Order: sequence, then structure tokens, then C-alpha cells
Amino acid sequence: MHRKNTTLGEFIIENQSSFQYSSGELSKLINAIRLAAKVVNHEVNKAGLVDIIGAVGDTNIQGEDQQKLDVLANEKFIQTLINREIVCGIASEEEDDFISINSSDNQHQNKYVVLIDPLDGSSNIDVNVSVGTIFSIYRRVTPIGTPVALKDFLQPGRAQIAAGYIVYGTSTMLVYTTGDGVNGFTLNPALGTFYLSHPNMEFPETGKIYSVNEGNYVHFPQGVKDYIKYCQKEEGDRPYTSRYIGSLVSDFHRNMIKGGIYLYPKSSIAAEGKLRLLYECNPMAFIAEQAKGKASNGFDPIMDIIPTELHQRVPFFCGSKKMVEKAEEFMKAAK
Ligand code: AHG
Ligand code: MN
Ligand code: MN
Repeated sequence: MHRKNTTLGEFIIENQSSFQYSSGELSKLINAIRLAAKVVNHEVNKAGLVDIIGAVGDTNIQGEDQQKLDVLANEKFIQTLINREIVCGIASEEEDDFISINSSDNQHQNKYVVLIDPLDGSSNIDVNVSVGTIFSIYRRVTPIGTPVALKDFLQPGRAQIAAGYIVYGTSTMLVYTTGDGVNGFTLNPALGTFYLSHPNMEFPETGKIYSVNEGNYVHFPQGVKDYIKYCQKEEGDRPYTSRYIGSLVSDFHRNMIKGGIYLYPKSSIAAEGKLRLLYECNPMAFIAEQAKGKASNGFDPIMDIIPTELHQRVPFFCGSKKMVEKAEEFMKAAK
């Protein structure tokens, strides 16, 4: 049992030996993410004060407007990881291609790749609503000493060795797993220290919250429409409550604590939904499974999908185990 109020720094050291590949490198990597999280937190908190809000005028590979804080968060995470010389490659929502990292005194010696969504829920920035960061960590599959390659990033979610998110909310939290349960740390902004506040986080087996962008209802597949009607029906513990922030990280975080399901299905206007497999769905799926929840594309587990593209999208059903199973029942019945 983890002790509450342990600092994240202490926790990383204490738990290093329980990690199967324990070499200290993963600890350094989590430490680098901890540092970048604090820097980005500082920027997010300043967002209302200084004129850094608004689209940069550029669009990212998904054709969406990039906002300044997306770019800033992207830079901060990439810079921190490069400076610490602990990863051989980074893939980011904000970068068309993966970044290969090498230096003259470190010839492609690093083992890990990181995939990130540096700022999730970016449409919420200029209205003072919670945003987040999502990260996923793999061991490279190409030999050490060679340049990192696309296949190092296109690994199924099952191969993740760590994943986590930061939620910049009413308080800032870092939640992560290395495959041994999920732990949440809250930032004390006065001291700049994360403390273990939520040890061994688990999704309630079932819940009463469903989170979906119902504005897209007419475009949803029949199975999703039927499931939404089920959530709204007056019967047993239903109707459920609808809660949708529009920041995956925040919606997921609330549902993990209170019990609920998050859905971003495919639709007639988005053939594979919206969310990205590699740096949104897989890390959240890893955390969900480690927290006794479930994540699927409506039919199969997210983490079993073999990726084919860096920025690939996938339908996402994630949350309390029984609720995801119920949604899958409706999907199968309507197929
Ligand atoms: P991002 O800001 O990284 O592009 O991600 C936004 C995602 C996700 O966080 C959120 O749940 C979803 O987009 C909201 O999409 P809709 O506005 O289509 O509901
Ligand atoms: Mn996102
Ligand atoms: Mn993003």
C-alpha cells in the first residue's frame, strides 16, 4: 500500500525496483515528465493573464487550428525530454513526423520512445476550463545504437511500459501507471511539489455518468444511438447523468473517480471517430485497464489494435467495466 503524502520524487525512487526493467532510466524519464508538467502548468495558469491565447495561424496535421498553448506545451515537453537525453524518439500530436533524438556523445543509446498529446482539450483554454497532457512510453523495438524508426512508435498499446496524464484543473494532478496500478499526485503550487493524493486509483465497476458529444447524435452508428437511449431510460438506476467537458483527460479523470463511461464513436462525418490511437486512446486504455476499467473500439480492446499510422484515429469507449461491456453489447446487437 502506498503512503499518502509521499512526494512523487520519493515515490519514483521507492518503486523503481518493482519495475521489471529497472535500470533507473524509466525513473529519469518520469522525472523529466514531472518537470515538464510543472513548466506547462505554469504556462496554463498564466494563460488568462497574458496575451498568449488564440490560434497561431498554423494548422496541425489533422487540419485543426493550433493554439499557442499547444505549441508551447509541445515545445516544453520535447525540450525537457531532449535535454535529459533519456529517449531516442518522440512522437507528438503537434508534429507531422516523429522526432529522432541523438547527440554526439550518445549514439542512439537510449531505449525509450515517448508519444504525447501535449495539450488535450485545447478548445477549452480560452474559456478557463480544464485541459491536460497525455503521454505513453514504449521500449524501442529497433536495436540500440541505430536511429529510431517508425516501427518503434507503431507498437500495440499492450507493449506500453508506462502511460499517464496531467490534468490542469482546479488543482493540477499527474496520474500514471507503470503496469502496477494507477497512482495520482496533486501539485502543491506553493512548493512546486507533487504529492501522492490518490493511491491505487480504480474505476468503480459501474457508474451513473455517460460522456459523449450528443450534438453528433444523428451521425452516430445505431449501436451508439441505442446505448444513449438506454442511458436515458427510466429504469433501475437510470437515467444516467450526462457530463461532457470536451477534454478527454478531464472527462476520463472524473469518470475514473465517480464511475462512468466516455464515448467517442465513429460517425457518418468522422469515419474512425476523432481521437488518436497512439497518444490519446492507448495511454488512456492502459490507465483504464490498470484501474480495473475497460477501453475498447466498441468491439475489441483498444490495446490489441496493431497501429499502422502515427496519427491514426480510432473509436473510443472507455470507463467503468460494466458500462463499457453494456455499450459493446449494443454495438454488437446493431452490427
Ligand atoms: P485535442 O485538444 O488534443 O485536439 O483533443 C481534443 C479531443 C478530446 O480531448 C475531447 O474529448 C474531444 O477532442 C472533443 O471533441 P468534440 O469537440 O468533437 O466533442
Ligand atoms: Mn487530445
Ligand atoms: Mn492536443
